[in-house]
Amino acid sequence: MTDLVQKLSDTTQFIRSHCSLKPRVGMILGSGLGNFVDSIVPEWSCEYSQIPHFKTTSVEGHTGRLILGKIGDVPVAALQGRLHLYEGYNAQEVVFPTRTLAMLGIQVLLVTNAAGGLNKKMTPGDFMVITDHINLMGDNPLKGKNLEQLGPRFPDMTEAYDRSLANLISSCAKGNKLNVWQGVYVGLPGPTYETPAEVRYLQSIGGDAVGMSTVPEVIAANHLGVRVCGVSCITNLAAGLSSGKLSHNEVTTTAKFVEQKFKHLVTQLIGEINAHLDKAPAKR
Ligand code: HPA
Repeated sequence: MTDLVQKLSDTTQFIRSHCSLKPRVGMILGSGLGNFVDSIVPEWSCEYSQIPHFKTTSVEGHTGRLILGKIGDVPVAALQGRLHLYEGYNAQEVVFPTRTLAMLGIQVLLVTNAAGGLNKKMTPGDFMVITDHINLMGDNPLKGKNLEQLGPRFPDMTEAYDRSLANLISSCAKGNKLNVWQGVYVGLPGPTYETPAEVRYLQSIGGDAVGMSTVPEVIAANHLGVRVCGVSCITNLAAGLSSGKLSHNEVTTTAKFVEQKFKHLVTQLIGEINAHLDKAPAKR
């Protein structure tokens, strides 16, 4: 066994020794969106620092906790807080928790994040269903020797974000009377926000929202054959598109402001994804 496969196996065994729940849907909760976990009836939860081989996250608004439990009758696993490249981790380290969720048996991964809107018509507090991404992070979790046990050397990314799940999220959000867009997420390493010139570049290459996360996890999930869907909370307009400067405070304040709406959307969504899975066979 390679070192990574051995580590994943240790971690999975540790979690299974504490909780027998087999999650069907996995979730990664981004900046300021972590309080959604209150909607989960927990069976077991654990700080990242107590889980073998998990690294801890240092970002404000992220506590670093894995929760296994149920939303309605759907078994879920939620990562409250994620690792980022700007914390000094490489992409392979960033995706270790995502790979762990896959080992636990999730069939769908729902990723959430806070992002800057690249479209001037967006308003802070809007949501964007992610239809595709552009990886400008300068790293890829699949770099290096491929582990055939996990997936293929050259994974297809034609539908990295499952189209039918994306449409499901859009209709769910519209049903909740939320302002919802569909679009392309551009992932940058951070930690600086973009310059206005970079924002114009990102617009010109087809980006709709920009952030510092998500891309590594989505690549790892696709490699493992897990279906992915994602929602960005547009916490601000990207640099230069509105008057004033950007701050992390603005990002967390907007995320806090939409928290209730977001909780409501995701809770409903989990039920809908579960029903959808019953109808559409999983990739793996
Ligand atoms: N840029 C990059 N990441 C972000 C932004 C942004 O404007 N807003 C929230 N995360």
